[in-house]
Amino acid sequence: MRKFTHDLIERNIGLMLVLVILTISVGGLVEIVPLFFQKSTTQAVQGVKPYTALQLAGRDIYLREGCYGCHSQMIRPFRAETERYGHYSVAGESVYDHPFQWGSKRTGPDLARVGGRYSDTWHKDHLTDPRSVVPESNMPAYPWLLKASVDGAGMAPRMRAMQTLGVPYTAEDIAKASDDVAGKSEMEALIAYLQVLGTAIKNKN
Ligand code: HEC
Repeated sequence: MRKFTHDLIERNIGLMLVLVILTISVGGLVEIVPLFFQKSTTQAVQGVKPYTALQLAGRDIYLREGCYGCHSQMIRPFRAETERYGHYSVAGESVYDHPFQWGSKRTGPDLARVGGRYSDTWHKDHLTDPRSVVPESNMPAYPWLLKASVDGAGMAPRMRAMQTLGVPYTAEDIAKASDDVAGKSEMEALIAYLQVLGTAIKNKN
């Protein structure tokens, strides 16, 4: 019996045709099947709302300060994770996050569901001086956030940028953006952001 070699395929156009079709259909399926699940990855989970102007400002501070370098926002569907952090993260929770903050480095705990876990005062103390509330902490202190105020004029353009990415802000949301953050410190904005994280899906354990 002849060995099944490439030579055989090249000399037999019928066989070649069958194999080509097979290869293309596998390639096609790999591209097409994920689209069947698109809804669950592009539609907001019930209860997920676009960030308010203050929360959005806080999120920008989170990015600026590089909090993502030590904190992930992605609870994996494993028992050890869900026992500690709560319900695992689902794609529909981060549809309004541009860019998403799933991260991968966990020098500190995951923050995907930190919203509501501590009081605003705890966060303020912790961010000003982490050692004052968690003595063994090696998290850096961010005392300047108390003094810096949120750039109100910058909020409307930032919200419009989010709008072009598909976040459903209304003209009214944008019009009052600057008033919403008026007089707020960067600390207040960052805490407002932390307090909303993961709250759409409450601990269901
Ligand atoms: C160098 C790494 C590092 C950076 C950068 C960092 N953290 Fe942390 N963070 C930690 C560690 C370690 C802990 C655990 C000890 C503690 O609670 O302080 C922690 C804890 C926390 C907690 C408490 C979480 C919980 O569930 O107990 C919050 C909230 C937090 N960090 C927010 C932030 C924010 C916001 C920033 C950016 C302004 C930030 N962290 C930057 C390392 C870091």
